[in-house]
Amino acid sequence: ESYDMGGHDTYMHKEISEQADAVDRVLRGRIDDRFSTVHLGGLNLDAREARGVRRIKILGCGTSYHAGQIGAQLIEELARIPADAEPASEFRYRNPVVDPDTLYVAVSQSGETYDVLAAVQELKRKGARVLGVVNVVGSAIAREADGGTYVHAGPEVCVVSTKCFTNTVVAFALLALHLGRIRDLSVADGKRIIDGLRRLPAQITEILENEDEIKKLAAEYADAKSMMFIGRVRGYPVAREASLKLKEVSYIHAEAYPASELKHGPLALIEPAMPTVAIVPDDDLLEKNRAAMEEIKARSGRILAVAHQVQEKADHTIVVPKNENELDPILMGIPLQLFAYHTALAMGRDIDKPRNLAKSVTVE
Ligand code: G6P
Repeated sequence: ESYDMGGHDTYMHKEISEQADAVDRVLRGRIDDRFSTVHLGGLNLDAREARGVRRIKILGCGTSYHAGQIGAQLIEELARIPADAEPASEFRYRNPVVDPDTLYVAVSQSGETYDVLAAVQELKRKGARVLGVVNVVGSAIAREADGGTYVHAGPEVCVVSTKCFTNTVVAFALLALHLGRIRDLSVADGKRIIDGLRRLPAQITEILENEDEIKKLAAEYADAKSMMFIGRVRGYPVAREASLKLKEVSYIHAEAYPASELKHGPLALIEPAMPTVAIVPDDDLLEKNRAAMEEIKARSGRILAVAHQVQEKADHTIVVPKNENELDPILMGIPLQLFAYHTALAMGRDIDKPRNLAKSVTVE
């Protein structure tokens, strides 16, 4: 992959289109079928040390923070280690308790974001072990961390992150699988996840082939002044990232909420002029998500669902291919990258360089 636009009108479109190859690259050479695990050479964390980790704290900003939220869920699901993600900027200013049994993970596309770098430096000063999940090889955060893994997304030029988000989440799936197989994840489950990871590139291609339909849907919803994005558990960080993508690139106001929290406030906003995008994976929360859509319909809200099957409660559904439950979040956000892109295109926005934003924020 290069800086050449290769026939695309924007880097955003080019980078969205490159995702199947990018995911293929982050997987390449790392899968160990014999032990149903993966090798991550640069972690600098041996099996005994990995077993001693009691908590994982993930730090990042913007889209990388959202990738870290999905990463934390993957680590909890596959490795059963308590994990959460926090904006690095907030973490650093609350005089955090730095615990020797906690593994810290700094996540950054550029590897240069000041708030993340400063958090890493503060953690290291206090004696913590910090790993980096970084795209740019040799960047400041990669150099400062004790070890880590590169996400191999290739160069990302558009200010808003797309392919690097996807690759970062896949890198977290690899980390979670690696830690899981050192701890209590069975061989069978390890194999199940590996098979799922191998299906991702073809499934991404399938999603991207649906671009014409997504473009039509973007035209349908582009008149909205504001949009609500909802999801639950695995779907919630997907909703957050999709909402961020839409607002960054189209300037349409968007907010993301856990579907379960609608009744505690945001339902008051629902009306025909406030459409909702619902992330509805075919998992144990399917019925709960359907009930949330029913609540929205009862208030005359329009719904666009991203789901594994057509949702009757929704006005429109973008159907995405099903993977293993744990890996579904990797795929469900991809059509919404195209949705944000086509909405912004229809509105004549400066897609690769949205106003007021920078690709890399190297100052506080
Ligand atoms: C800026 C960019 C975002 C990015 C964030 C974190 O705000 O506009 O797209 O997610 O920085 O950048 P990083 O390079 O650390 O992932």
